Amino acid sequence: MVIKAGIVFNYLQLPDVSQFPFVISKRTDKFFIQKGLFVYTESNEGFLIGIIDRIILLNEYFSDALTIKAYNTNNNPNILKGLFPSEDFEFAIAIVKCLGIIKFKNNSKTNIDKILRMTYPASPGREVYIVEEDLLNEFIGLDKEKGLNLGKVKVTNTNAKINMNRLLNKHYAILSISGGGKSYLTSVLIEELLKREEDYGTPAIILFDVHGEYLYLNKVPELKERVSIQDISYFQISVPKMPIYFFKKYQEDISNVQVRELAKFIKKLKRDEKKKNQYTIGDIIELIENELDGNKSTRQALIGWLSDLERLTLFGPQENPILDNIIEKQKITIFNLQKEISIRKKQIIVDYICNRLFYLRRLNKVPPFLLIIEEAHQFCPEAAHSKAISKPIIEMIAREGRKFMSCLCLISQRPKRLSTTALSQCNSKMVLNIKNPYDLKHLMDSSEAITKEYANMISSLGVGEMLLMGAAINYPIFVDIREREYRSDTEEISLAQICLNWQNKQLK
Ligand SMILES: Nc1ncnc2c1ncn2[C@@H]1O[C@H](COP(=O)(O)OP(=O)(O)OP(=O)(O)O)[C@@H](O)[C@H]1O
Ligand SMILES: [Mg+2]
Repeated sequence: MVIKAGIVFNYLQLPDVSQFPFVISKRTDKFFIQKGLFVYTESNEGFLIGIIDRIILLNEYFSDALTIKAYNTNNNPNILKGLFPSEDFEFAIAIVKCLGIIKFKNNSKTNIDKILRMTYPASPGREVYIVEEDLLNEFIGLDKEKGLNLGKVKVTNTNAKINMNRLLNKHYAILSISGGGKSYLTSVLIEELLKREEDYGTPAIILFDVHGEYLYLNKVPELKERVSIQDISYFQISVPKMPIYFFKKYQEDISNVQVRELAKFIKKLKRDEKKKNQYTIGDIIELIENELDGNKSTRQALIGWLSDLERLTLFGPQENPILDNIIEKQKITIFNLQKEISIRKKQIIVDYICNRLFYLRRLNKVPPFLLIIEEAHQFCPEAAHSKAISKPIIEMIAREGRKFMSCLCLISQRPKRLSTTALSQCNSKMVLNIKNPYDLKHLMDSSEAITKEYANMISSLGVGEMLLMGAAINYPIFVDIREREYRSDTEEISLAQICLNWQNKQLK
């Protein structure tokens, strides 16, 4: 159904090439013309599409100070109202930002061939209509059939069904202040991916859950089959699979001389038929202790560093879990880091898993995957002084992952602290409320699509609203995020209830 919105007219030097005003038709139905609505008009160049940028209400009566004074001083304004029907003089105008001229394929009205830049203004007197849903889907680049349903495109009735290929072919970031709804949105995305039709094809998901917020997923009967939770207390890095430079990476105080010494001992162990694929850091230490040749102080220092590594209890003869076996398409593997306090240990775990995953992916031993990193600023910080062990591999996946179908999702509440290299590779951005001016500036620097105008809108977004921009769609849109289908029983408990429960626990 074609809905007429109004008529283009002349107002304050407009229309020009980039904007046109129209007088909003008075409506009898319930349909409201709102800011953010997509509209079109036939201009001399063809089908001109735009978005309502501003709405202004005008009333000639009240533009004159003397009339208002008369209104105010008269004891009975109703008499004046009877004499002058001021309400009939009220009218609304909308200022539309032009987005492009749509050229259709074979004269159809829905199949877009290409979108051209405007070079000529809209014509005053022409009618303005609301863009219909099918065309809007195509214009924005949504996938009505197989897309991931994140909610509704703001002010319209269109579902924001994001094309999965366009979102996951490149990387994306979810950014907002703390409590802005990043984890909530991530849960919505995970629901969509896990519940997609099997024959649509869906990558594996790997998620580092820093606060244990996603553990509820394996209690949901419909999803349980597709969720595997890996408790980090059983996590083990295989020492025989560790290249020598990993020792230096995980224990950066080891000097180059000591690394050379260490290489000799590892070579020796690799020659040992019994120990070959089974040795631990303890075995290396033992070997060094029994060695009599060479520089004693180098050996002693090396033992010190290795013992320190061993105390992290992350290293063993074999990898656990064996990543090649647990990563499966359309299944999510959640690494629960909730109980781990040491940031160094967390970084080592994330580094090892990312390295192995990317290596296995390059050998085609695991399916294409989506790697979700919560609190990404902890694992891939910008500042040079906060050397994060996991930073190089995350930046490498950000730079090269696309060629191997390895998609990164970086989630952060402090975009400013997040590595610019990694952030600028996130071609799509889901931005929820951000208030901090430094973070906003950083965001504007890392993406040319975020103008000052968008930055202002981002700082006033409410909970459940986001701005989606970048490679996933053709044109930035505001989305009302849908409710998630499943939730854990514990998360809605109030502070007061937790206090009450706590008291009861103490009394028992
Ligand atoms: N789309 C939404 N609809 C309804 N409630 C929401 C929505 N998004 C977030 N919330 C609510 O807002 C609160 C904070 O959300 P969430 O935990 O996702 O924030 P966050 O950005 O991940 O915060 P943090 O940075 O601290 O991890 C939650 O209680 C959640 O229920
Ligand atoms: Mg969160």
